[in-house]
Amino acid sequence: MNFLNEIAGRHPDAISLAAGRPSEEYFAIEDVHRYLRRFERHLTEEQGLTAEQAARTFLQYGRTKGVIHELVARNLAVDEGITVDPASVVVTVGCQEAMFLVLRALRGDERDAVLAVAPTYVGLTGAARLVDMPVRTVRSGPGGVDLDDLAAVLRQARADGLRPRACYLLPDHSNPSGLSLDLATRHALLDLAEREDLLLLEDNPYGLFTAGGERPPTLKALDTRGRVVYLGSYAKTGLPGARIGFVVADQEVHTPDGATGLFADELAKLKSMVTVNTSPIAQAVIAGKLLEHEGSLVRANERETARYRENLQRLLAALAAHFPPGGPVTWNTPTGGFFLVVTVPFEADDALLETSAQDYGVLWTPMRHFHDAPEAANQLRLSVSALTPDQVGDGVRRLARLLTDRLA
Ligand SMILES: Cc1ncc(COP(=O)(O)O)c(C=O)c1O
Repeated sequence: MNFLNEIAGRHPDAISLAAGRPSEEYFAIEDVHRYLRRFERHLTEEQGLTAEQAARTFLQYGRTKGVIHELVARNLAVDEGITVDPASVVVTVGCQEAMFLVLRALRGDERDAVLAVAPTYVGLTGAARLVDMPVRTVRSGPGGVDLDDLAAVLRQARADGLRPRACYLLPDHSNPSGLSLDLATRHALLDLAEREDLLLLEDNPYGLFTAGGERPPTLKALDTRGRVVYLGSYAKTGLPGARIGFVVADQEVHTPDGATGLFADELAKLKSMVTVNTSPIAQAVIAGKLLEHEGSLVRANERETARYRENLQRLLAALAAHFPPGGPVTWNTPTGGFFLVVTVPFEADDALLETSAQDYGVLWTPMRHFHDAPEAANQLRLSVSALTPDQVGDGVRRLARLLTDRLA
């Protein structure tokens, strides 16, 4: 990622189909002031806190599991139909901290491993490296997860003396693949997790950005057997600068002293040694946004969702205009989110990206950065989140020149 940022820095005029940042079009500093005031009113007028207690909530060291856990639980109920006890929510410094805490908690010794559907978000592989936990990859296939491969990878890992503790995946509009799981696959995956005594780490930063159709239920909403640990991020739906994420960990676990307790409380013990607590001021910003929209980020993000949808349609239409069906350049058609993957009949590596930036003025991400499988060498991830619709069209025109020159 440093290399990608460095290329972007050297080519500031290039159109970036690489950046996965949310759109800045609707950023407004005044919103932050309003959100803070809204949360303050919530504490004093709706929760009955004194002015002094409200000030302490904002400004003092705070509860390790966070101060907006009830609002997070309400948000999950309103937008996702997920019912959780707020006590099982840990508010974290971005989803990244949540991934780190979960993996750290699952790693007892060198036999513990995590499975991840490939291509895999780099934040998960980075966190696994930090806790010294091997990652065994599972093929995604066209349906988002290849369940036969998952069973085979589990068998092999156990035969190798490993204890696979969990499988990480993005069931909705995955980063980087753009793939989503259909409903039948979600149910089958939950059944497999139950049979195999495996946790599922469901990461869902993009689920609400649909391209138009019905949103399928999350794994967590379907989970009746305590198999899913839900990883949340408010980076794309709240404000990335607030750095607020969370984890729902409502499983009963055995604690190191032999008692039983909530997995969330085990994560909180680790968090107290990493970031102590998540900035309450940053939590207050997200809380204000949630309160302003009656707990619904679907509602709060109507303009953003429309923009991403338009950009994705533009991207798909532009690709289709430049590369007729049956030709050597192919891509998948996501049902929403920020990303899709283009496959070409030559290597799409860092050297080609350098040429692309230098001579064609367009940036993208080589899939090799997410994946070791042979097919990744010929694939590019394209993202539409940080562009205007016209820039998407211009970006694809530049990319089409590069690919056409290469094909020739
Ligand atoms: C798959 C995935 N998970 C999580 C995150 C966000 O994590 P954070 O809340 O730490 O910004 C991202 C952001 O790019 C992501 O793509």
